[in-house]
Amino acid sequence: MTGPCVLRLRGVALSFGRVEVLRGVNLDVHAGVRHLLLGPNGAGKTTLFNTINGHLRPSAGTIEFDGSDVTRLSTGQRARRGLGRTFQIASLFPQLTVWDNLLIAAQAPSLLKKGARAANADAAAALERSGLAAQRNMIVGNLAYGQQRLLEIAMALATKPRMLLLDEPMAGLTQEERGTFAERVVELSTHTAILLIEHDLEVALRIAEHVTVLSLGAVVFDGKPADALSAPIVKEIYLG
Ligand SMILES: Nc1ncnc2c1ncn2[C@@H]1O[C@H](COP(=O)(O)OP(=O)(O)OP(=O)(O)O)[C@@H](O)[C@H]1O
Ligand SMILES: [Mg+2]
Repeated sequence: MTGPCVLRLRGVALSFGRVEVLRGVNLDVHAGVRHLLLGPNGAGKTTLFNTINGHLRPSAGTIEFDGSDVTRLSTGQRARRGLGRTFQIASLFPQLTVWDNLLIAAQAPSLLKKGARAANADAAAALERSGLAAQRNMIVGNLAYGQQRLLEIAMALATKPRMLLLDEPMAGLTQEERGTFAERVVELSTHTAILLIEHDLEVALRIAEHVTVLSLGAVVFDGKPADALSAPIVKEIYLG
């Protein structure tokens, strides 16, 4: 039932100065599987994302994406292959409409200029899948916070990624917005592999299909959501 392995990490290590932040991380993310990355504050989750998308270079280990080694590729090269470009509210254009933002994103990943028709089609598909169609012509600065967070995802979708890396996308959302957001993530995962970092365990475990737990930069659990909470190491981390 699981699709092919989209992302494969083997022995990924990284240090900031003398502090080892990632230690021998192995990770397999499969197409069509909503994969949740858990771990306490400072475990190295965001650092792992930055290593996957190319903002940071590991000191050891390999990163394979879609079957090829991308360990030495730049962030832009990875994004053009469809690896997890994410946008943040800070990178939205608040004075432009939702649609204009999406068009800009749809143009972003190609060095060779994408034709206007192709960019339009990508932006339209992203608009549809994000559930923001009714807000198409609204000025982004006037959107509710939860809608701005959905727009971030829509911008990433407009680049037609094979995989999305979502780092605490529900932070700051109301309980109701979280519910909507989680539904979107479920829909997205039929087309796009998703690796999600989320502290809200209740929402996250509801939608996750596979869980990896990081602690002090090392993988301490990798398996089914149902088994995650009963694993002694996970209990120890979360319940003290
Ligand atoms: N640029 C940096 N320079 C030095 N140390 C860093 C840097 N970025 C992160 N760290 C350290 O690396 C460790 C892992 O940080 P990281 O942000 O990856 O954790 P996290 O799991 O994402 O935590 P959180 O749940 O709080 O977001 C922490 O100890 C942090 O202080
Ligand atoms: Mg983080």
